[in-house]
Amino acid sequence: MQKSKVVTIQRHIVEQERLHPNATGDFTCLLWDLTIAAKTISREVNKAGLADILGITGENNIHGDVVKKLDVYANEKIYKSMNHGGHLCIMASEENEDIIPIPDEFPKGKYVLLFDPLDGSSNIDANVCVGTIFSIYRRKTTGKESTIEDCLRKGTDQVAAGYIIYGSSTMMVYTTGQGVHGFTLDPSIGEFLLSHENIRIPSKGKIYSINEGNANTWDEGTKKYIAYLKENDPSTERPYSLRYIGSLVSDFHRNLLYGGIFLYPVDYKDPKKPKAKLRLLYEAAPLAFIVEQAGGKASTGKERILNIQATELHQKVPLVIGSKEDVLTYEKFFSQK
Ligand code: AHG
Ligand code: MN
Ligand code: MN
Repeated sequence: MQKSKVVTIQRHIVEQERLHPNATGDFTCLLWDLTIAAKTISREVNKAGLADILGITGENNIHGDVVKKLDVYANEKIYKSMNHGGHLCIMASEENEDIIPIPDEFPKGKYVLLFDPLDGSSNIDANVCVGTIFSIYRRKTTGKESTIEDCLRKGTDQVAAGYIIYGSSTMMVYTTGQGVHGFTLDPSIGEFLLSHENIRIPSKGKIYSINEGNANTWDEGTKKYIAYLKENDPSTERPYSLRYIGSLVSDFHRNLLYGGIFLYPVDYKDPKKPKAKLRLLYEAAPLAFIVEQAGGKASTGKERILNIQATELHQKVPLVIGSKEDVLTYEKFFSQK
């Protein structure tokens, strides 16, 4: 006997939207369009090892990273899937320096889409999980054309956020502010089916995820915190285990399900030029919305990620995210540095 009813993502989105009395169905269509792009990217990622699409284009993106062909593919796929539906007024992508307007020939809508088309893409050649991250806001400006102001937002303004993880199976995880729900793609029928309803992150984990090769560049608080996690104290389940894939979506997804903490602190290699790596609008804010909806926490070490007002499209922030108690403990170490 089948244990539970089969719920497609389409039906789930519709049911979520019904909870909003004034909903027009616009938002449902927007999310639905995104799932189509996700399925297509999933197909391409799965055959990455086979096709000559695998490899480096030789161009650098605006962050100075080498762009893989699949990044370009995913970026274009999302743009082309989302530009004509009449739901969006503007987009911005980690891969594009400037805002992405909706072409004149298409109708404009009231939503803003920000995305990281392929996260963790340096891992593709090794068959390691990668992902897509998205963040949706309502338009803020009222003029004829939407502007960058519609993209420079505070995470608390998000109306939805999610990611697609292209792993041993493809999953889509999203929130509209009413819990976090996960869907697994059944490739035989091409549908995302509800597999993880109302995900809650354990309040404390036993895993830490950080690029430990950078240890010499960390601030004192982070150094002390990581040293603390390695101490032997079975009553607090220490030492923790280190798990670091180097693909944010994958590290985040594992910690969301098992509990744990992911950290990408500021790099002080050149103390005069401290550097954060992860992007506020495409990575930190959407995952912060998801983790909070699942009962977790996301911080820079001293500030709630969702409270940061973006001032630049490609603004970077330190990110400490995961189980609530673990992030709180980190904040204590960070404040004592
Ligand atoms: P992207 O592939 O979108 O540029 O993101 C890469 C990010 C993120 O996925 C990961 O957590 C982090 O870079 C890994 O950085 P390090 O290699 O410096 O550890
Ligand atoms: Mn990324
Ligand atoms: Mn990326």
